[in-house]
Amino acid sequence: MTLPLDSGALAARFESVFGASPAGVWQAPGRVNLIGEHTDYNEGFVLPFAIDRTARVAVRLRPDSTIRLLSTFGNQGLTTADADALSRDTARGWTKYPLGVLWALQERGLQAGGLDLLLDSDVPRGAGLSSSHAIECAVITAVNELAGAGLDARDMVLATQRAENDFVGAPTGIMDQSASLRGAAGHALFLDCRDQGSRLVPFDAESAGLVTLVIDTRVSHSHASGGYAERHASCELGAGALGVRALRDVGLADLEEASGLLDPVTFRRVRHVVTENDRVLQTVQLLEGSGPGAIGPLLDASHASMRDDFEISCPELDLAVEVSRSAGAVGARMTGGGFGGSAIALTPVAAEQQVRAAVGQAFRRAGYPAPDIFAVRPAAGAMRLA
Ligand code: GLA
Repeated sequence: MTLPLDSGALAARFESVFGASPAGVWQAPGRVNLIGEHTDYNEGFVLPFAIDRTARVAVRLRPDSTIRLLSTFGNQGLTTADADALSRDTARGWTKYPLGVLWALQERGLQAGGLDLLLDSDVPRGAGLSSSHAIECAVITAVNELAGAGLDARDMVLATQRAENDFVGAPTGIMDQSASLRGAAGHALFLDCRDQGSRLVPFDAESAGLVTLVIDTRVSHSHASGGYAERHASCELGAGALGVRALRDVGLADLEEASGLLDPVTFRRVRHVVTENDRVLQTVQLLEGSGPGAIGPLLDASHASMRDDFEISCPELDLAVEVSRSAGAVGARMTGGGFGGSAIALTPVAAEQQVRAAVGQAFRRAGYPAPDIFAVRPAAGAMRLA
């Protein structure tokens, strides 16, 4: 991977492309979800953290309605659009994300007009680390400030969700953008997705002698098609059949009765969400009481539930999780929406090399492409850099 451009270099590149300096440079991070998967759109609990991989945008507003977008990666070249005629049908590649944000702001009554934007990002794409939300959050933070829109984090979370749901076409929840906007170094974000109530929970793996390894299986996925939307629909079906507003309202004690009311597949989907919400609460308690070393069994149980009940894992993710565990990780699970992407392995620093080597070897033996394995730590949320 090429090194990210610092804000000075990004501003200089912007000037050489657009012929004027940017009004500023903003960044927003990707995220890892520690635990709480497919609970957000069920109005439940999640515990993600912002990572030290970010999208950075140099931006200036224009006096006309022209939008010009360029990234430092890929081969899409310069994209132009008209702020007065944004269309979800013609937007391509990464430009869907900034255009979706501008569209969602217009839907809220905010006409920011045209802009020039240069994007750089070192959040791996298609790896389940929310590279798309990193872009959206960087853009909305920039435009909010430049247009004096006065949106708070809550508004920005809802606007980026609108962009994803109705412009990009992915029926996702509010976890990723919440982590990207509200994250803080050394902490995970405990978020109640019913009312956006949140609290930062200490997650300092390093002080506990641990490292969070991301294992990107390179199996790419898209939440705008297929499995993600199906799972979302199953959860709505389950909530309807159980007569609740959302699966958040079903407790562990209700599961036995639910098994008699639902078909077997819907029941397993529901059981995942209900037990996962409980695991988030237990994880928060353990982090606040005993520290990161204690949460391994909950990470493992979360993975088993996604593999067996929610059925969103894949052989590469299962292998990454199993091998990390047997090579010394205290806990491991797939992270993000599933059907590919990354696993995380909470690993004692002393076992890091062993886990890396064992996972690499297991992938080679299985004939899978080499995974990309790297360490992440909780980092700050979206901010202005320059
Ligand atoms: C994706 C979505 C999130 C969330 C996760 C699964 O990352 O964007 O809203 O639903 O999947 O937990």
